[in-house]
Amino acid sequence: SKAKANRVRRLAEWDGQQLRGLARKHGTPLYVLDPDRVRENAARLRDAFPNADVSYALKANTTRTVLEAIETSGLGAECASAGEVQRALAAGFPAERIRYTAVNPPDRDLEYVISRSQTDDFVLTIGATDTLDRVLERGYSGRLCVRVNPGVGAGHHAKVTTGDAPQFGVPYDRAADVCTSIRKEATGVDLVGIHAHAGSGISGDDLASHRELVRRMGVLGREIGALDFIAVGGGFGVPYYPDEPPLALDSVAAATRKAYGDCDAQLAIEPGRYLVADAGVLVTTVTTVKPTAETTVVGVDAGMTTLLRPALYDAHHEIRTLTPDRDGREAMSCRIVGPICETSDVFARDRSLPAPVRSDQLVVGNAGAYGYEMSSQYNSRPRPAVVTVSGETVSRRETLSDLTRLEQNN
Ligand code: LLP
Repeated sequence: SKAKANRVRRLAEWDGQQLRGLARKHGTPLYVLDPDRVRENAARLRDAFPNADVSYALKANTTRTVLEAIETSGLGAECASAGEVQRALAAGFPAERIRYTAVNPPDRDLEYVISRSQTDDFVLTIGATDTLDRVLERGYSGRLCVRVNPGVGAGHHAKVTTGDAPQFGVPYDRAADVCTSIRKEATGVDLVGIHAHAGSGISGDDLASHRELVRRMGVLGREIGALDFIAVGGGFGVPYYPDEPPLALDSVAAATRKAYGDCDAQLAIEPGRYLVADAGVLVTTVTTVKPTAETTVVGVDAGMTTLLRPALYDAHHEIRTLTPDRDGREAMSCRIVGPICETSDVFARDRSLPAPVRSDQLVVGNAGAYGYEMSSQYNSRPRPAVVTVSGETVSRRETLSDLTRLEQNN
């Protein structure tokens, strides 16, 4: 039902018995994805922004299962690399709905997208006049968008606040001139849009920054004129704490519309996290329980190589035990750590769990966004498997021999 789809999916709502069954069958650490939830999130966004172009920022989760769920929901694709463009095309996104936002792009990326642009009509977004020159030198003649540095940022952490970082976009006060000279001099390309992104993990508290970004982009868009779209980025946050309220999407949409003002160009948004965060969890098994003077250390078989966010951003992820409550288990404070030889390999420093014992299974919430996507093989740890709630394999678990598969001399 719509009411149900409108609620945020809390970790406690995942079926523990089903997750335990999947863990038994596929082993842990294991990412579990619910494509239906991705579709619900997509539908909710489209309802909230009825006339906007809603695209998905692939970087949050590029698995084929997620991409197909989003493509069939009618959204577009915002890509950050040649690899993401290739994945979007392979998953069936029509090129017309693909935008490649080139952030300091390597030559190889430009060469790939420019050769594809012979047949595929996507939008190439440049964030520096230098990039524009490189694109023109290589004969690009498709649709072009200029990324603007809006001078206003927002986000859950300084490391993901892009809107005021000089590495992203043409300075706001130069953007109109850049667009004018593209129209005058780069007559082979078709300037169709402008783009900006404030940052990632925008909460209700950041709404003023979001509004200001949208307002500035509306002003700029009217000044430039004759644009198909103005993209105001993604960044819509999701609650990571159990009692944290979800973003009031309808009021964000209303505020966005109002700040955008009267403009012929279509408003475009490109959330990543919002579409997939609560559509994924990570299941992990307790391998060590060690009482120390300071805390009880609970070692699990997932680590910062499986889910990097706590180590990189001090991000909070809710963690629950999946093992049915046994009598007499008292809640205790735990430090939940992974198997990597770094003190940064900590999921939670002081987290209350029913007294854990070895081989308990734990589930980590909101792992659908920037989870598997940021996983690595550091410490020669094979990447985990990804399955759907109904048990289909999305991506198989890597084996030890996968670790050396690219090396030439073994
Ligand atoms: N558009 C652009 C141009 C972006 O750079 C990003 C994210 C998005 C859209 C989507 O943002 P979202 O809606 O997902 O917040 N690894 C970090 C997040 C980095 C996001 C970088 N750019 C994390 O795990 O929090």
